[in-house]
This record gives sequence, C-alpha cells and structure tokens, in this order.
Amino acid sequence: MQYERLVEWARGVWEQRHPNRKHITIWASAECSNMVAQKAVKVGRRLRGKSIYEGMEKLECPVIVPISDYGSRGKHMVLTATSGAYAFKFSMDGEDPFEVIYASSYFDDDVQDLTAVALVPVGKLDTWAAFEFACARAVRPRIRRRRDVYIIGGTDAFFDPTVTWDDVILPAELKQQLMDDVEAFFNKGVEIYRQLKLAPFRKLLLAGVPGTGKTMLCAAMAKHAIEQKRIVVYVSGSDRDGATFEKIQRAFQAVAAARYPTLLIVEELDAYLRGDDKARILNVLDGVESPNNPQGSLLLATTNYPEAIDERISRRPGRLDRIFVIPTIQDEDQAEKMLRHYLGTHWKDEHLEVLPKLLDQPGAFVREVALQARMLAAHEHLTEISSEMLQRSVESLTYQMRADKDFLMQRRPMGLGGANRANRNYGSPFIRKS
Ligand SMILES: Nc1ncnc2c1ncn2[C@@H]1O[C@H](COP(=O)(O)OP(=O)(O)OP(=O)(O)O)[C@@H](O)[C@H]1O
Ligand SMILES: [Mg+2]
Repeated sequence: MQYERLVEWARGVWEQRHPNRKHITIWASAECSNMVAQKAVKVGRRLRGKSIYEGMEKLECPVIVPISDYGSRGKHMVLTATSGAYAFKFSMDGEDPFEVIYASSYFDDDVQDLTAVALVPVGKLDTWAAFEFACARAVRPRIRRRRDVYIIGGTDAFFDPTVTWDDVILPAELKQQLMDDVEAFFNKGVEIYRQLKLAPFRKLLLAGVPGTGKTMLCAAMAKHAIEQKRIVVYVSGSDRDGATFEKIQRAFQAVAAARYPTLLIVEELDAYLRGDDKARILNVLDGVESPNNPQGSLLLATTNYPEAIDERISRRPGRLDRIFVIPTIQDEDQAEKMLRHYLGTHWKDEHLEVLPKLLDQPGAFVREVALQARMLAAHEHLTEISSEMLQRSVESLTYQMRADKDFLMQRRPMGLGGANRANRNYGSPFIRKS
C-alpha cells in the first residue's frame, strides 16, 4: 500500500465534493483517526484562529481496510489507533464552512505504524494544525497519580515504592555512591547548576543484566524521595503503548508542573532509543528538550542493554552524567546475604555449600532458587531445607535457563525477532509479564 494511492483517492473525493476549491496535500497526524481522540474532541470544540470543529463524516475508501488497535485506559479496554478515511468539518465566523479529506492506513504489515494524508483547503492550515494538536493531546497516555508517584504507562504491579533501601542487596559501596550522588544533587547541586545558568537536570543510568535489582533500586529510591518530599514520576514502556517519546513528553510536563524537586524514573531507556525517537531522546539528554524545573529534576534510567546506549550517549560528557553498573553476585559474602534473605527462617549453615554456585547470578536467580526449595519442602511436608534440596533447585533452574536459551535461539530465525520485547529476555526465566 503506497501513499500515492491514498492521495489519488482523496483527490478524487475532493474533485467530487469541492470542484472549485484549491487544496494542499500534506502528511497528517495519525491521531485524528484514533478512536480515543474522536471521542474526546467534541463537536463544537473551539480551535485556535476562531474556528470550530463541526464533526466528521466517515468515508468509504476502497484502498483502506479499517482496523483498530486497542489499549487500556484506566480499568477498561478501548479502541485506539484506527485506519480509515474521514471528512473533518470546520466552520469559521463569517466564512464558508470547509472540510479536510483525511485518510490513514498501514503501509507495511510488519510495522504497525499508521501513516496519514490530508487534503486541506488553501489558507486553512492553522485550523487543521490546531485540530491535529487537540487530537494528539487526547491520545497521549494519561498520568495516574498514586500517592506521590505519577505513573505513566505500565501497570502498577511493576512499581512498588514500599521497597526499602535495606531490602536491596548489593555491594554497600555501590549503594552508597548512588545515594550520595542523588543527595548531593538535590541538596547542593541544584543551586550550583543554577549559578552556572544550567537547567538543574541530572541523569543517572543503572545498567545490568536482567534480575540484578535495578527496578528494586528505583523503587527504593522512589520511597526515599517521597520521604524527602520530592515528587516521583515513573515512566514504563511495558504496556501496549510501548516505549514512545510521547510518554517522555508527558513525564516532562508532570516534572515541569511539579514545583518540587523531582525524581524521574525511566525504565528500559534503550527501548526509547530506536528509530525517529532517538534524535529526540538525544535532545532531551542534551538539555534542549529537557524539563525545566527550577527545583531540580534527576533522571534515574535503567537498561539491560547497555550496548544499545551507544557511544553517542555514553561517551559524550553531559548526556548521561553517570553510569552505575548493577552487577550480578560478585562474591560469596553477597551470595550469603541474598540466600539468607530469601530463605528467611529456613537458613542453615550447611547452605554455605551452595554459595559458589550462586556466583555471577542475578539476585532474581537466588530468589527463585530459595522459593523453589521452600515450596518443594512444603510440598513434601518437610520442615527443613537440606543443602541437597537447594543444590537441586540451583541445578534445575540453571538447566531450565540453558534449555530456554537453546530453544529460543534455535527458533529465532523462524521469526522470534528482536522486535517483540516480550522475547528479549530469552535465557532468563524471569520474563516480565506485561
Ligand atoms: N540486589 C537484589 N537484592 C534483593 N533482591 C533482588 C536483587 N536483585 C534482584 N532481586 C529479586 O529479584 C527480583 C527482580 O529484580 P528486579 O526487577 O529489580 O531486576 P531488574 O534488574 O530490574 O531486572 P530487569 O533488567 O529484567 O528489569 C526482585 O523483585 C527481587 O525479588
Ligand atoms: Mg527492571
């Protein structure tokens, strides 16, 4: 499906309906055919330039097969992006009413991006732009407020600001460095940035393989921030809307409006660094499009694909101020802390034997090992967990991870590509539910 065919069809319609009126042909915003926008932008809406939206007429277009996407708004599922053709009608004081012929369609079966064209009467571009803007606003992901956390995208389950700093088991030095960086910024840094006439915006990245505790660290940092009377804005790309720049923009609006020091958490930053959005994210990191909150905002981003954060970002000073590598378990001391934590009262000194097997594993692995052993013991009505049971749990989990990896690797050429984020964690049993 080529855009030429859409335009050709639209011109035919135009000739029939407005043979004596001149038009211009433009790329239009796909949001105008989004069902969320069509519901929200009401007939009678006043637009900039003294014009009024008078409603729309659905048009039959032989080259478009209408199809809708859907997503959650609050508790309900609603139709969202939709392909189709419409005549949008407008009026203006003292002038003839006019319409815009609009068509949006998918050009490519693989990439679910709508492309839209519009035929706009000459001289009416301001009205049309205002209408597109109103539609785009209506479609943007909403911000939900939960206690002092603004959540953009994702589900609540991903983010639990009840995690305490002590719950996160990582090298003490690393935790301290991160905390010091954050506190130094809010307590002293903001003023220093201001003196230098820089927007007080600091950017930290937590990088590490899946399951090492990055999300946990963010949650604990959020809890701490709330205690310090800061605002927290949390952005997740793990919902149907995905990682869109739109969400980052919404987050910035919340940050700019906050009037308090703000902690902005963006999970899986790498996912935003694709396609056209990349240039815009770079602008954000450079400060061109970053939020201007005089009270200071600190971005805490996570990634388990540090290689996706390419050199343009990591090597250029100022784009990311610091990168903290969140490691897997590095020594037996760490492994013991983690295992003791997840075994709770079941811990016995004989379990020290399994520690070597936990090295270089993420915290999530140890949690899973402990959970599995505890469940198995309960199932067999045992009150104690032997170190042999723990060993078995380690082995089966290691085996499972390897088997998953082989299986998925073999299947990849058949279509399990990198496009689907649900498949990104192959090799890990801790696949996120979304
Ligand atoms: N350092 C840790 N200390 C304590 N528990 C941990 C740690 N790391 C992981 N866990 C356990 O594993 C779970 C998953 O960790 P978390 O979601 O924080 O990992 P992540 O680094 O964000 O992973 P991903 O990169 O896949 O998002 C946690 O909820 C926690 O139960
Ligand atoms: Mg995470």
